[in-house]
Parts: sequence; structure tokens; C-alpha cells
Amino acid sequence: MEIIVVEKSPPLKGKIRVNGAKNSALPILAASLLGTEDIILEDVPKIKDVEIMCEVLRTLGAKVEILDEGIIKINAKNLDNYVTPYNLMNKMRASLLVMGPILARLGKAVCSQPGGCAIGTRPIDLHLKGFKALGAGVETEFGNINAHTDKLVGNKIYLDFPSVGATENIMMAATMAEGVTIIDNAAMEPEIVDLQNFLNKLGADIKGAGTSTIKIKGVKKLGGASHQIIPDRIEAGTFMVGAAITGGDVIVDNVITSHIKPVIAKLREVGVEVIENADSVRVIGTDKLKAIDVKTLPYPGFPTDMAAQFMALLTICEGSSVVIETVFENRFMHVDELKRMGADIKIDGKSAIVRGVDHLTGAPVKASDLRAGAALILAGMAADGTTEIENIHHIDRGYVDIEARLRSLGARVYRKTVE
Ligand code: EPU
Repeated sequence: MEIIVVEKSPPLKGKIRVNGAKNSALPILAASLLGTEDIILEDVPKIKDVEIMCEVLRTLGAKVEILDEGIIKINAKNLDNYVTPYNLMNKMRASLLVMGPILARLGKAVCSQPGGCAIGTRPIDLHLKGFKALGAGVETEFGNINAHTDKLVGNKIYLDFPSVGATENIMMAATMAEGVTIIDNAAMEPEIVDLQNFLNKLGADIKGAGTSTIKIKGVKKLGGASHQIIPDRIEAGTFMVGAAITGGDVIVDNVITSHIKPVIAKLREVGVEVIENADSVRVIGTDKLKAIDVKTLPYPGFPTDMAAQFMALLTICEGSSVVIETVFENRFMHVDELKRMGADIKIDGKSAIVRGVDHLTGAPVKASDLRAGAALILAGMAADGTTEIENIHHIDRGYVDIEARLRSLGARVYRKTVE
């Protein structure tokens, strides 16, 4: 088994480039099934989740070639399979994102029902509500979701919650529906804007992404395009917290600063200096970290995907902080692990009260999900002694070579194979 070993690290120093966004690459890879000509995607992160999505696309009949580091060519002209099998769905929930595109292309889509998840029950009712509103019949039987239609017809769809995945799936399904589809209370994440830009390059007619109302005029057919994935705002935030937690001085390069406003604001509240440049930020740590409150919200609020990493930082801030999680129902799995490292945290429903401690101490811990794993690496860099993190497959799902990249900034983070 592989583990990540983290030793107390000196202040991180240097410059690091952020990769393309996982949560943009996954829906855009899924959306590539809509096109019938060559598609070239650039800055696709080399992570496990992308590997799985490529496997899903191949299973469905698309040709997927890795041309170079971060460059993938897809041709889905011969898309012929409408079933996403359990073994792939089970590996990654985001496989569900192929359902909208397959339904649009083939008029039917079968996907195995996703199971439970470490961060909450994560229902998919809003995805299915969208497909039904577009005229599809949807049944769940024998562990599968079965969607079918003679033709999709545009409609008005109100999302009860601005779900990122449901917004994306409905946008993709509606690209070739007859007439106009309007999604109200749509998610406004930058990844939705990236998906719109990509789909429009393929020939779709979509407006409004980035606002809460998205308007999709159905077109007959989608073709091919080249597209560069936007930088990963969560990876950027993770490195920024890395600089803050070690009292370092790091330039995080290839960022769109407007996408990371809440992270910048909260780091400044904690006492860290953040200098914004055109497409980079410089984060300069302080030895006087102050407690603050953080509440996760859909974009443009503070991202739930940054809450665990921020909590790692708050464990050593002076005073009491409150972290409120409003997006997922069970995203505090890292709390017990941080407590093993000496953190003082109490959970009360959706809130975690973090009382700053003088120092953390290294311990054997387990990553329960991707961001929890990142939080443990960050905490380990600030903790006395050695932290050994198990279940690192969660971390590999979303971060490229994180230990080597952190080491390039001076961190003492290594991967080790143990019995
Ligand atoms: N929800 C429903 N019904 C639905 C869909 C969602 O009730 O049909 C609820 C969920 O249970 C959850 C909330 O809505 O409580 C938000 O879920 P959302 O659909 O917005 O999340 P997602 O599309 O499943 C994406 C990211 C997550 C990120 C969330 C929120 C991808 C592949 N995943 O998930 O990323 O946390 O949006 O921003 O884009 C991560 O990268 O670590 C990660 C978990």
C-alpha cells in the first residue's frame, strides 16, 4: 500500500503552476460525447478521475487518445453504447455526467445508480427532474437509471438547489433539444462557464452561464473544437493555504483571481498577505494567524471544496473559529483525523468550532475524501514530527503529483510503499 509521509516543513518558498481544473475537465470530457468531429482538450490534469472518465468515454464508443502531457483528443462520431456500467459508475460519481450527452445523442441512456459517498448522500433527483422536463421517460430499476425519449424538447426548469452537476447535465442534454431550454436557479460556478464556452465552440447556442439563468437554444448537431481547460481554483487555494500554514512566501501561478476571491478574502482575514497579479497570486505568511469564521456556499460563496484545507489552517490560528458547511451534509470526516494531530475541534450539526492550538503533532491518519486528504497534508506540514496518511487514492483522484510539487516549494512530503 502507498502512503504519504509528511514531516514538519520549513516555510514554503518559490513559484508553482496550477493545473487545469478537475471539475471543468470532467464535464467537458463528458460533453465531448456530443460532438461528431475531432475535439482537442488542453491542460487536462493527469489525475485518476480523468483516467476513469476517459475509460467511460471509450466504453461508450468514443475514440480517446492522449496526445501529449495534458492534451487529449476525442472523437465520438461512432458513439454507439448507451450503458455506463456499474464498475465505472462505482469508481467515480461524476460518470453520471455522461447521461445528458448520451441521451441527447442516442435518445436513451442507462447509468448505474450511484451509491453513497463519504461527503453525504448526494441524491441525483435534480438531474433526473431536468431530463424528465425535457421529455424523457426516467425509470429506476435493478440498480440502474434508465432514461429514454423519442426526442428532447426544450422546457423551463427550476432547480431547487443550484447543483453543479445537475446544471451541467441538463445543459448538455438540452444542446440539441427542440426549442429553448431555460434553467433557473442554475449553479454559477466558473466550471459551468467553461462548459458553456466549450459547448458553444462545438456549435451549441448557450447564454447566461455564470448567472442563475441559463438559456439553451437547441441546435441540430455539434461538431469539433479545441479548448483549454480553466485553471483549478481549488488546487490554487490548496497551495495558497500551504503557504499560509507554513508561514511561507509562494507565487501561485496560472490562476484566475476572480475565481478565488473568497479564498483570498479569508486568507487576508486570517492575517496572511495576498498580492494579486494578472494571472498569479503571491501569498506571504505571518506568525500571527487569527481565528475567523467560514461558511461554505455555492459560488460565488466560499467553496465547500476548500473548507477542509482551511480548517487545517484554523487549527493553529489564535482564538476560536467556526466553519459552517451548507452544501454537503457530512463533510467533516477529516475532523477526527485532525484531532488525532492535536487539533481542538467540536462538531455541532453543520458547524465545527475550531479552537486554535499552539501546535499540532504528527500522527498516523486516514484520508476520507479528496479534500480531507489535502487538509491532512497541509496540517502535517505544520505539525511537529511525522504524519503518515493512508487511503491516499482519494488524493490522487484530484491532485497531480502533489507531494513532488509541494517538495519543489521546500515541503517535506514523500510517497512511500509500506506492507
Ligand atoms: N444535490 C441534490 N440533488 C441533486 C444534485 C445535488 O440534492 O440532484 C445536492 C447534493 O446532495 C449536495 C448539493 O446538492 O448537497 C451540491 O451538489 P452538487 O450537485 O452541486 O455537486 P456535484 O455536482 O455532485 C461538484 C463537484 C464537487 C463539489 C460540488 C459543489 C464535480 C465533478 N464535483 O459536485 O467536487 O464539491 O460540485 O461545489 O464537479 C471535489 O472536487 O472534491 C468535489 C467533491
